[in-house]
Amino acid sequence: MEGQMINALYLGAAMLFILALGGLSSNENARRGNLYGMLGMALAILATLLSPGVDRYEVIAVCMALGAVIGFVLARRVKMTQMPQLVAILHSLVGLAAVSVGYATFLDAETQFSGSEKVIHDIEIYVGVLIGALTFSGSVIAFGKLSALIPSKPLLLPWRHGLNALLLLLAVYYGIRFVAAASPEQALLPLLVMTAVALIFGVHMVIAIGGADMPVVISMLNSYSGWAAAATGFMLSNDLLIVTGALVGSSGAILSYIMCRAMNRNFLSVISGGFGSGAKAGASSTSAEQGEVISTTVDEVAQMLKQAEKVMIVPGYGMAMAQAQREVSEVTRLLMAKGVHVAFAIHPVAGRMPGHMNVLLAEAKVPYDIVFEMEEVNDDFPNVDVTLVIGANDTVNPAALEDPGSPISGMPVLEVWNSKTAVVLKRSMATGYAGVENPLFYKDNTRMLFGDAKGNMDELVRALA
Ligand code: TAP
Repeated sequence: MEGQMINALYLGAAMLFILALGGLSSNENARRGNLYGMLGMALAILATLLSPGVDRYEVIAVCMALGAVIGFVLARRVKMTQMPQLVAILHSLVGLAAVSVGYATFLDAETQFSGSEKVIHDIEIYVGVLIGALTFSGSVIAFGKLSALIPSKPLLLPWRHGLNALLLLLAVYYGIRFVAAASPEQALLPLLVMTAVALIFGVHMVIAIGGADMPVVISMLNSYSGWAAAATGFMLSNDLLIVTGALVGSSGAILSYIMCRAMNRNFLSVISGGFGSGAKAGASSTSAEQGEVISTTVDEVAQMLKQAEKVMIVPGYGMAMAQAQREVSEVTRLLMAKGVHVAFAIHPVAGRMPGHMNVLLAEAKVPYDIVFEMEEVNDDFPNVDVTLVIGANDTVNPAALEDPGSPISGMPVLEVWNSKTAVVLKRSMATGYAGVENPLFYKDNTRMLFGDAKGNMDELVRALA
């Protein structure tokens, strides 16, 4: 009876997690999706507490209280701009959990298997620790890169492909030794060596990917954290953890595919590293060769916007940094009230996490029906009178299309230079995340509005009102 109830709770939780994923796939349903996810997690916790073998309630209560306090404080303190790093560090914890459960299962003297059952059990432990360890170290490096503690430029060792192949061979060799070991004492060394190998592999893999290719790393680690959770589920014989892990793992894999397609990259070439660094990196012409930069003022931009029929707004990471989304929303409202046609163009890797811009615009109550994906509006730019580029840089860089030597060469970008005038709001001539010079800033029809995006948009609101 108890078992049946737990299974029913698990089934309910799994269904709610699927509904949550479905909800998160569109802006309108995202809030509902989150609610389903929370409800699913509550059911999962309840089912775990009721499971046979769970009896140390005092330990669980202390751990849950500690986790809840840390979660609550983090959620209140972390700024929206720090979300990508927070997600990376949370992924690292999933990896660490898989490693810990793997070792705990290995050391658990009570579970004795023999024959093929033992082989399967050993493989579960080995694979779980392997995925967990590389998710852990890879996510820690991704955290460092996203919070600018480690340079975003890829670190390329001359023999990196050889090193990757060696690490893979070592993991397979020690895997065979682990499974074939006659006693737990003999199996411990292969497990420890493989853990070190997987940790090095995670660091090496993420440190070799850089610049504009980081979105693929983030979605890939997202996927790995799911597979690590699924592996933990196998070790603990917990069906819900297997289902949930597989859901996260496969949706992360789909996201990685989408990101690769958005960046026109091959997944295998991205994870083998090296993009964003090439020998010809920086081959784009220097600022002196590119010509004059024409700066503008808020009043001039207000005049341009008042006379425009069609305005496109292209937000980027700088809008998130400046937290200018509410002012951007207000400018949109004022322009629409004056009969100007306003639309938003969102690059799939704008910002620092998938959907970053959509979240900010939704928070600022920009209507969903004027927010478009890159491929929906990229051909419309010739009909646009004024494009406002708010803190975007790499995602509007024509070098991606025009300069085969550029580290971002081949990445589709928003072709804002095709509009009649492109106004770029940023503080300086600094490069974006990929560290690439942007020829857009020197084009005849580009106007630079220097300064903090929030301050400038706020002044623009007043000039338009
Ligand atoms: P970026 O290329 O990163 O450029 C952002 C620009 O915003 C900077 O050039 C900066 O110039 C400006 N800025 C910063 N603070 C500002 C402020 N307070 N006011 C006004 N401007 C400000 O942005 P993007 O076009 O969104 O491209 C995203 C990049 O990040 C891509 O290379 C992408 O591959 C990478 N990335 C994306 C993700 C995901 S999943 N989306 C994850 C990791 C990395 P100033 O300093 O001159 O102001």
